Amino acid sequence: MLIDSHAHIQDPQLRPDLEGVLERAHQARVGAIVCPGYDLQSSSAAIEIADQHPQVVAAVGIHPNYLEDWRPDSLVQLADWAQHPRVVALGEMGLDYVNGPRDKKLQQEVFIRQLELAGKAGLPAIIHNRESHADVLKIVREVGPLPRGGVMHCYSGSAELAAEFIDLGYYISFAGPVTFKNARRLSQVAAAISPEWLLCETDSPYLSPEPFRGRRNEPARVVFVAERLAQLQNYPPEELASVMTANAKKLFGI
Ligand code: NI
Repeated sequence: MLIDSHAHIQDPQLRPDLEGVLERAHQARVGAIVCPGYDLQSSSAAIEIADQHPQVVAAVGIHPNYLEDWRPDSLVQLADWAQHPRVVALGEMGLDYVNGPRDKKLQQEVFIRQLELAGKAGLPAIIHNRESHADVLKIVREVGPLPRGGVMHCYSGSAELAAEFIDLGYYISFAGPVTFKNARRLSQVAAAISPEWLLCETDSPYLSPEPFRGRRNEPARVVFVAERLAQLQNYPPEELASVMTANAKKLFGI
């Protein structure tokens, strides 16, 4: 069994086919799916799906690329949702210096407020980091280890940086890019992470693993990410799958 620790199945590319998506995940032995929001509407949709499907749990948060949705009272709404029994994490949140708004101060402010909320709500944080490694590390350090930790989703940094995040209580999660043929550096990083801090995800509908690169992604394909990680870690696939499943269960309390 596997857990897809990050899949936006509420996305308009997947939701119309939700029953098919969930059925194929079930056939692929994906036992649970963590569905993070990226703005208020998608966070609410994540809760709605989790309410209707026992194998889906939700996370609520505002992604740095969706800050036009940010209002001072957004945090009140997130805090309210954090109490919901199907919400297992805050996120996704973080910094994106490629596609996020130019206003880095705003990105950082919204990230810090959500990290602090995760701490207060007693939930783990799901963190997005694109070309913003130094600032994400600085903020995560300044806010300090969260009672329930968190995860660096779709990890793209160095092994040294990963060690810093692990020290602060963050799991390291890999998605489709680790299966790409030209991903030499990322493969070396994935091979170096201690299995007890490793998670796998699809980031559906994005980043389909090989051999589906470039096509719409869905949770059933987390199997290809997990197999690649087992190969890199030199671990029997079944064994690494059960370690990663135990990690996800522990982190998200599922
Ligand atoms: Ni995502």
